[in-house]
Amino acid sequence: MIAPPPVERVLFTEEQVSARIREVAQEISVKYAGRELKLIAVLKGAVFFLTELARAIEIPVKIDFLAISSFRGSAPGMVRIAKDLDDPIQDEDVLLVEDIVDTGFTTRFLLQTLSGRAPHSIGICTLLDRTVRRIVQVPVDFRCFEIPDRFVVGCGLDYKQFYRNLGYIAVLNPDEIE
Ligand code: IMP
Ligand code: MG
Repeated sequence: MIAPPPVERVLFTEEQVSARIREVAQEISVKYAGRELKLIAVLKGAVFFLTELARAIEIPVKIDFLAISSFRGSAPGMVRIAKDLDDPIQDEDVLLVEDIVDTGFTTRFLLQTLSGRAPHSIGICTLLDRTVRRIVQVPVDFRCFEIPDRFVVGCGLDYKQFYRNLGYIAVLNPDEIE
């Protein structure tokens, strides 16, 4: 017997997630109609969302990735780029694709860093938005779901690197969290 994932409840099923991603992809296709878009995802959490989103967008898209790491024991939001983009973004329409915007520190750092590279425009698209925990304000242009103040896993979001591959989004059983 394979044990089921230790989740307390499912917030959004695989079908709901896919349907909502297709809706948001449509919004993006309309907003950027007649243009080309570069989707930038932060490794590793946003990769699952980016691939599904990209497949449903109907305008030409390029993709690129970066990775960040936080300084241990430092203040929140103190992050640095651990793996940079492969290509410049100058004069491009860029959409930063996030798994979740929580406090907003990570997103603000990325926005500031990427804005400094002179893109034509830069927007934010997130799978999950937890506005109740926001500390710094960031302009979210596209969001799939607003979520409550509970730790969630699935669709790219992890707990200790596990559960990213769940097709649904679920609240992790609190007994699991150390
Ligand atoms: P922020 O800088 O506080 O907005 O944090 C964003 C990052 O924290 C995300 O990219 C996730 O890696 C992580 N994170 C925040 N909330 C959750 C959650 O509920 N589950 C899994 N990871 C989370
Ligand atoms: Mg994580």
